[in-house]
Amino acid sequence: MQISDFRSDTVTKPTDEMREAMRNAKVGDDVLGDDPTVKKLEEIAAKKVGKEAAIYVPSGTMGNAIAVKVWTNEGEEVIVEEKSHIYNFESGHLAFISRVIPRPLPSDRGVYDLERLKAAVNKRKDYHVPQPTLITLENTHNFWGGAVIPLEHFKEIREIADRKGIRVHLDGARIFNASIATGIPAYEYASYVDSIMFCLSKGLGAPVGSMLAGPADFIEKARHVRKMLGGGMRQVGVIAAAGIIALQKMVDRLSEDHRRAKTLAYALSEMPGIEIDPENIETNIIFFKVKREDLTAPELVEKLKEHGVLALSMSDEDIRMVTHKDVDDGDIRHAIETFKKILLR
Ligand SMILES: Cc1ncc(COP(=O)(O)O)c(C=O)c1O
Repeated sequence: MQISDFRSDTVTKPTDEMREAMRNAKVGDDVLGDDPTVKKLEEIAAKKVGKEAAIYVPSGTMGNAIAVKVWTNEGEEVIVEEKSHIYNFESGHLAFISRVIPRPLPSDRGVYDLERLKAAVNKRKDYHVPQPTLITLENTHNFWGGAVIPLEHFKEIREIADRKGIRVHLDGARIFNASIATGIPAYEYASYVDSIMFCLSKGLGAPVGSMLAGPADFIEKARHVRKMLGGGMRQVGVIAAAGIIALQKMVDRLSEDHRRAKTLAYALSEMPGIEIDPENIETNIIFFKVKREDLTAPELVEKLKEHGVLALSMSDEDIRMVTHKDVDDGDIRHAIETFKKILLR
């Protein structure tokens, strides 16, 4: 049976070129600072996002957790978007590791309401009141269906943060999807934030790893925190080698994933009992609602699976499907035919 796996872009397998690079990678002990391949990856990554330095971390979650830990002190407040990954899907590291208070704010597809944001930032200076010291952003925004945050919003956030002297961290797990969708280079988005995390192991296809980039002294502190969290990784050049290919060779092709996501979204918008606005699909993530008497989202996911189409149910009504390098036009046709079989009966 043909298997078409739309659960996430994290399911992507390393390319043959990555495997070859991994086999031949020059390695050393990175904890002692002498793995040449990870050093090269960190230099390339920093340059890509226009920052002084970067550090390789095992996961996006660890990258975000380190950034929050370095930028904040215990008891301070961190502004998070209410549907953000950092707030909802990273097992609560804001509380567990940084001991900060998340202040969730609503948004329109990941774009904060500026008046709400200003009110949250302009807190009375009083020892009763926890003070906000960090604003976080997510681009593209996973749970807003891969929404791209406009560059203009980055400028607005920077201004608000600068007026209060507070930091901005970007969860840019999929920043290159945003960049490919808009033509705006990743470094331009990053120029408005103090630090950025981005993932190599999602749409870019590397087997493991994310990058955290920012000022050199921030990255020095990040190395210390990474070690405390058990993220010092010895002969890590073996996997960093695949990360180099991810950054050099796998960015431009993301446009194919975006085209396929649009095709699938338009087809879904014509199915009975499916709610989706295909115009909102800007990158590679599709969220849609199942509004049927006879079927819940988890039941539909089960039926899809019987036909080899894998998706994730996010609630009783919501399903997420993600396009990536390991689903091609044949997989899109397979998915559309399967939806028709199940929903048009
Ligand atoms: C927007 C966003 N940020 C952070 C992460 C965390 O990445 P990881 O799964 O590597 O910890 C994810 C993972 O899906 C994500 O979608």
